[in-house]
Amino acid sequence: SQANIPSEKGLDHSLSLLKDGYLFIHKRAQDFQSDIFKTRLMGEEAICLRGEDGAKVFYDNDKFKREGAAPKRVQKTLFGEDAIQSMDGEAHRHRKQLFMSLMSRERLQELNEITRAQWLLYIKKWETQKKIVLFDEMEAMLTKVACEWAGVPLEEKEVEKRTKDFGDMIDAFGAVGVRHARGRSARKRTEAWITSLIEEVRSEQRSPRESTALYQMAWHKELDGTLMDAKMAAIELINVIRPTVAVGRFITFGAVGLHEFPKEREKLMQDQDGTYSHLFTQEVRRYYPFAPFTGARVKKDFTWNSHQFKENTLVLLDIYGTNRHPKLWESPNEFRPERFKGWEGSPFSFIPQGGGDEHKGHRCAGEWITIELMKISLSQLAQNITYDVPKQDLTYDLSRMPSIPKSRFIIQNVRRQQ
Ligand code: HEM
Repeated sequence: SQANIPSEKGLDHSLSLLKDGYLFIHKRAQDFQSDIFKTRLMGEEAICLRGEDGAKVFYDNDKFKREGAAPKRVQKTLFGEDAIQSMDGEAHRHRKQLFMSLMSRERLQELNEITRAQWLLYIKKWETQKKIVLFDEMEAMLTKVACEWAGVPLEEKEVEKRTKDFGDMIDAFGAVGVRHARGRSARKRTEAWITSLIEEVRSEQRSPRESTALYQMAWHKELDGTLMDAKMAAIELINVIRPTVAVGRFITFGAVGLHEFPKEREKLMQDQDGTYSHLFTQEVRRYYPFAPFTGARVKKDFTWNSHQFKENTLVLLDIYGTNRHPKLWESPNEFRPERFKGWEGSPFSFIPQGGGDEHKGHRCAGEWITIELMKISLSQLAQNITYDVPKQDLTYDLSRMPSIPKSRFIIQNVRRQQ
């Protein structure tokens, strides 16, 4: 039996998950004084894990699989159905190679240049505007950046509509009701748009550069030598563009950090060689809420630390709580970029975008992109412009998944630094 795992009483805790949000696992782990406990979610038993040891076992491919782990409602909004997130074994490794091949040094350099050029244009525009909602601006800028980088044509007049659709897919992940419905229709529209692009590439009406994600997704061969289904190719291309747009949330939280922590802002202003912007970026990814947890299913029965895991059991790994685990982090609830100076943690203790090895497992394919985009953007905010932060509601709700500051960070009087 699994009797030695502390167990939450009650028939179902799905509503508490919606209510406690990012704190759902963390709070219970603290209460049980245990980094493993059982609960019931959506009508089934689930085991929750928190911390480095839990992450280590969770990323063991012999013990866990992703098939059937992500709920359909998440696949129909955030991920896309039956895509990389739900794959296992050889097929997953082959698909993951495709994503990782887009992350070469040259391709990151190109992303860097595209992003810097957009920042110049946006600063020029902001100087003429009275009020800027940073989160909205970042999502639009990153939609342009991601599409250009991926080889996806995007006309100026489409930017607003496509930005809203990428934003709505992201905003739907922990939602029920209207936000969920918006995410679904955004995904339908976006898949239709990108599927037709893939078909245009295949019929050679369109010839993107070979290094681009559009080209690579269109011509990728499956293990059996056939092309992916056009819709699947579109879903995976969206799995590059959409999360790049999502970096706008971390940048917005980074801007909140610059505002809330003036001493650290000062250090970032003085940073000449990118050292401090790296520390600051890492701490933003640790401290502010984005991915709450991730899930898998037990591949076959096993015992771990004398706890029994039964085949097919749903297991959730706490991302938010591992990044704030009191045994892994000194003063976990304080914002201290310096903690990452000479940091010698493991790939299982700091897991804002998943843990383990991104080539072998499901760890995020876009972590380098995320860090690059954040470093560029936070340095621009701290070093290249000045702005006022008017009175506004900067609180963010930990029961809202994904969370975002209520005002979405408003700035005024943007001026280029002399
Ligand atoms: C997977 C977070 C940005 C592409 C993941 C996972 C998380 C995550 C938590 C799942 C890890 C797991 O289940 O084990 C984030 C966050 C981002 C971000 C917070 C910041 C905005 C990006 C970017 C890309 C990207 C920029 C662009 C390529 C992917 C892909 C996967 C993934 C393709 C699936 C990997 C797999 O299943 O093997 N991400 N991500 N992500 N991410 Fe990201």
